[in-house]
Amino acid sequence: MAETLSISENLVAESNLPQVDFNNIPFGRVYTDHMFVADYVDGQWTDLRIEAYGNMSLSPANMALHYGQSIFEGMKAFKDADGNVLMFRPEENAKRLNRSAERMCMPSIPEEIFLSGLKRLLEIDGDWVPNLEGTALYIRPYMFAMDEYVGLKPSLNYRFMIFCCPVGAYYSQPVSVKVEEEYSRAASGGTGEAKAAGNYAGSLYPARLAQQQGYDQLIWTDSIEHKYIEEAGTMNLMFVMDGELYSPALSGTILPGITRASVLQVAEEWGVKVHVGRLAVETVIEAHRAGKLQEVFGVGTAVTVSSICRIGFRGEDFELDMENRELSQKIASYFESIRYGKQEDTHGWIEKV
Ligand code: COI
Repeated sequence: MAETLSISENLVAESNLPQVDFNNIPFGRVYTDHMFVADYVDGQWTDLRIEAYGNMSLSPANMALHYGQSIFEGMKAFKDADGNVLMFRPEENAKRLNRSAERMCMPSIPEEIFLSGLKRLLEIDGDWVPNLEGTALYIRPYMFAMDEYVGLKPSLNYRFMIFCCPVGAYYSQPVSVKVEEEYSRAASGGTGEAKAAGNYAGSLYPARLAQQQGYDQLIWTDSIEHKYIEEAGTMNLMFVMDGELYSPALSGTILPGITRASVLQVAEEWGVKVHVGRLAVETVIEAHRAGKLQEVFGVGTAVTVSSICRIGFRGEDFELDMENRELSQKIASYFESIRYGKQEDTHGWIEKV
């Protein structure tokens, strides 16, 4: 990874690390000592710096707050038995952030800045990467508009930042999902494949309605017929039917998950028949009725591989067998072993900091 950029450092005098109970870390609430910051001013990325994690000052008229030019990434770093900090496909996150930036009319960030800032931050805060089973350092790179202006136009100034949190599991138990047929997460031509803050905001109200009915999350369907499965908002979806793996194709309305792509590739290499295409809700429900729906699971950076235990569809609940999860468990343990450096990474996906 390139290390040629000049990054100024203003480090904390005393780390907060001794106050952290690594045996009990809530997801996304504990932050490491430092953050990486870069500002986009006069058409240039400038003032690359590592400073203490902390609040920042923004104008009340900050355009990101009003017009939503705000995009982000999710990544994780892991620690191997020798104490090395390992990252999973970091270049893919840098590339995806730039695809989101283009869609939201924001400047791209040179991959070198993204990756060098990340590497330096992980070198400085490396002791925060937990090494207990099921834990990781969650990394949040993001970019947002910095102009102070009232009126709709692209901002001229932006800020790129990276902060990190040691985390345990995102979902502590298998997840129940409801098929959403009224609201949509994304429409064709919209921003669904960008990792844009607004996509997540728009999902909250329908998700809350589902939570009031006893579900954890939604299975979003296409916005035209509400017939085809898309994603779950916090994760991409996978279905095992009759021993074969099915996942919705990237239609422009689904987040192109890096975990998703990696899982599909590995399953294919193992000889599993993989189907990536349009997947109707009815197909899945019929497979369940016929006893052929063996596993349903979500994949993503935050959730890793998360089992789905129940699907709600038109008032009926379809329970999944939680005892027999052969493929998803094989996938989960494969990714766990390469991420923690316990098994050879034959794909070249792991990068040591
Ligand atoms: C991730 O998987 O990293 C995400 O950004 C999803 C978010 C809901 C935590």
